[in-house]
Amino acid sequence: MPICVSPICFQAMAHPDGELAIVRAVASVDTAVGVSIYSTYSLEDVARESPNTVKFMQIQFYKDRQLMVDLLKRAEKAGYNAVILTVDIPIEVLPEIVEAVRGTGVEVYMDSGVRLGTDVLKALALGARAVFVGRPVIWGLAYKGEQGVTKVLEMLRHELKVAMALAGCASLKDITPSLVMRHAASHL
Ligand SMILES: Cc1cc2nc3c(=O)[nH]c(=O)nc-3n(C[C@H](O)[C@H](O)[C@H](O)COP(=O)(O)O)c2cc1C
Repeated sequence: MPICVSPICFQAMAHPDGELAIVRAVASVDTAVGVSIYSTYSLEDVARESPNTVKFMQIQFYKDRQLMVDLLKRAEKAGYNAVILTVDIPIEVLPEIVEAVRGTGVEVYMDSGVRLGTDVLKALALGARAVFVGRPVIWGLAYKGEQGVTKVLEMLRHELKVAMALAGCASLKDITPSLVMRHAASHL
């Protein structure tokens, strides 16, 4: 499904199972997860917990480039599917980014502030392949570990389905930019 989990550091502060609970919940709803470089469990432990889950390893740029190479090699060996290189940008530029990579085969994902199924619908309509959700997932983790995370992801999935139905979309392919109307700031 097009609702994935953002990389969040030190998840054992929210629940003792931390990243292990998240990766299990992500497997149960068949989506993907970003694993922070500041994970409380090692990237190998997280991978072993759910080998078939699609996992993106998140790292920042470090002055020590050899450290980056070593971490990336570890992630590759542990079976991570992709890398998230963290560079923050404002979400208002989503349509421009989608336009810039059109025809290149590059997929665009978006996070920050996704709280409702309608937020997911809007992001997909503007060209994102999927969204990532951070804090709501951590609230679910703090509430009830793996079960809480699964609940949050299932709620968002349900809300997306309702939003799609109300917008007349039978499948993800039916979600097009025509669903989003822009108003000038003075109309808000
Ligand atoms: C407590 C906390 C820790 C985070 N840790 C990381 C991190 O280690 N790496 C990273 O790339 N982003 C990190 N982020 C950013 C999230 O991945 C995400 O971009 C951000 O929370 C916005 O999504 P949200 O509005 O759904 O929470 C963190 C965010 C929060 C709130």
